[in-house]
Amino acid sequence: MKDIRPRRSALYMPGSNVRALEKAKGLAADVIIMDLEDAVAPGVKTAARDQVVAAISSGGFGRKEVVVRINGLDTPWGADDLAAAAASKASAVLIPKVSSADMIAGVSRVLDGLASPQKVWAMIETPLGVLNVREIAATAGQNSSRLDCFIIGTNDLLKETRAELDGNRTAALYWLSAIMTAGKAYGLDVLDGVYNDFKDAGGLLHESRQGRQLGMDGKTIIHPDQISIVNDVFRPSADEITAAESIIAAFELPENKGRGAITMNGRMVELLHAEMAHRTVALAKAIA
Ligand code: COA
Ligand code: MG
Repeated sequence: MKDIRPRRSALYMPGSNVRALEKAKGLAADVIIMDLEDAVAPGVKTAARDQVVAAISSGGFGRKEVVVRINGLDTPWGADDLAAAAASKASAVLIPKVSSADMIAGVSRVLDGLASPQKVWAMIETPLGVLNVREIAATAGQNSSRLDCFIIGTNDLLKETRAELDGNRTAALYWLSAIMTAGKAYGLDVLDGVYNDFKDAGGLLHESRQGRQLGMDGKTIIHPDQISIVNDVFRPSADEITAAESIIAAFELPENKGRGAITMNGRMVELLHAEMAHRTVALAKAIA
């Protein structure tokens, strides 16, 4: 089994907000995304870059993954952002508006040239990105590939398509499922888009649960108040852990050795469910 990293909650913060960058160290999000792109106004891009680099090198983030979202390489800031992120202790570089596999290869080549260790994360948030998502995901199977995670950018997709969401995100279901399926086909984690109304805890809970049901590994968030809700939704519940442990135990019974399917509480349980159970237990351990 691939190493499991909990990525239940990924909190964006504007790189221009020093207070937020400092506050991040003590927050319980699994991932911190320091943004240099859309949350930062053009006039303060360079200052934000310097502040993000300083915040990362000051350390204190514990086991959290620190990710830097750079500006696109087709903007005046992208190349310098990438170089700065590559020289930092960030664990990954997040590329915005990825619409083709070439964009992943381009960033990976730069990181290779700098001999930097960062993984590459990709925002899928344009209609073309959704249409090309399989080819983008497939770069994860190639040699020296750095692609590790997809983030779904629902706000940009709504802007580009002029679609409108209802409470069950009907218009987004195709994007969410297409990106999730392509990501999983190539072993990537997939994180759901943000819930903008950060004062509405009930709405966030509903949308987070929907994301988990759709196969997301976690959710991107914009405010510290959203962390605990999302962490709880994407953590295996006590009942799920108990059920997983009993499936694992059942397959270890001498009478079940070598069997592919057994009956538990009147239900069929297959070896694939035991694999799922092992993953549930491993994820719970990694979170603990
Ligand atoms: N990360 C870290 N800390 C944050 C934060 C974030 N994303 N959002 C808010 N905080 C902090 C504030 O600094 C404040 O800290 P303080 O009490 O120590 O001063 C505290 O949490 C409460 O903030 P609050 O007053 O409720 O929110 P706000 O009005 O200051 O900010 C937003 C609201 C939406 C502007 C802000 O949450 C934000 O910038 N979110 C991220 C936006 C982003 O990165 N978008 C790009 C990707 S979609
Ligand atoms: Mg975006």
